[in-house]
Amino acid sequence: MKKRLKRQRRCDAKLAKRAEAKRRKADVAASTKAAFHSKVNAMSSEARDAFFVERGARIEARRRETAERKERRRAQLSSAYGLTIDCDEDLTTTMERERWGSLMKQLRAAYERNCKTTAPFKMSFTRMSEAFEEQMGRMNAGWENWHVVRLGKTLRETAAESETTAKSLVYLTADSERELREIEAGKTYVIGGFIDRNRHKGLTLRKARELGVEHARLPIGEFLETRGAPVLTVNQTADVLTSFLERGDWGEAIEAVVPARKVVKIANRSNEADAKIKDAERARDEDEDEDEDEDASPTADDDDDAPTSTDGAPR
Ligand SMILES: C[S@@+](CC[C@H](N)C(=O)[O-])C[C@H]1O[C@@H](n2cnc3c(N)ncnc32)[C@H](O)[C@@H]1O
Repeated sequence: MKKRLKRQRRCDAKLAKRAEAKRRKADVAASTKAAFHSKVNAMSSEARDAFFVERGARIEARRRETAERKERRRAQLSSAYGLTIDCDEDLTTTMERERWGSLMKQLRAAYERNCKTTAPFKMSFTRMSEAFEEQMGRMNAGWENWHVVRLGKTLRETAAESETTAKSLVYLTADSERELREIEAGKTYVIGGFIDRNRHKGLTLRKARELGVEHARLPIGEFLETRGAPVLTVNQTADVLTSFLERGDWGEAIEAVVPARKVVKIANRSNEADAKIKDAERARDEDEDEDEDEDASPTADDDDDAPTSTDGAPR
């Protein structure tokens, strides 16, 4: 009897709390509405007309923006081009733990680029360790709502699913002897979620071979003479792929992404034309660095914590 009475009281209190919250919400809505009406009533009739025209345009622009965003997100998840970031524990435990934050910034940059393009990849992540995922939640607030597929499996488990799945994977690695020529529908391009300042050269190539999946490097050497081995960051690699899907031209995609300071010579250009282009790109890189200091948004180029190789390029 006592127990039932207690339960009844708890239930009543909950209902009263809910009713109070509802009443408060209605009060706020009523006073907002009253303020709006008194503001509109105080206007001259011309000002009121102009106000409603401008308000209508604003509402319409917002509605269009929301519809476009929804459409882009739908396109993202139904894209025929796959892009997986390999976040398996074997990679994240091999890299220095202090670099996790930088890697997470790169993951966000890659995701944001994919959200903005008209030629998106269906982006996915392999299974992260608990510790990595927990930090990812802190670093990239709201990442649970990203329009990506969480595979819930390691790359090894994914490749072992079926022969078709294994055959559809192409591990991108700067150490591959094969050059990527095309981005094919139905294939999934894998980027190693890894920052190592290239201390672990060949690590992802060995992994690809071990899993028996195809591998390839970006055709950077064909278009640019670079300082040192052209090893890019995770987001730069994703950016080259997206730029290629957008433009259909490897040269343009690579030149747009690879940081100017890494470039020694642009193939098939006179020295004068080459110097002009490099100057322009260098200026752009410097601008990006400054922007970065202001808003700390990760760009394709280096970020404060981003790893730098001996030649100064982030990897
Ligand atoms: C910083 S790199 C890691 C380098 C590391 N030593 C390795 O074994 O891959 C991060 C990832 O970007 C991708 N990547 C970087 N440069 C690339 C290139 N030139 N061609 C293809 N993929 C590249 C690879 O997927 C690589 O795992």
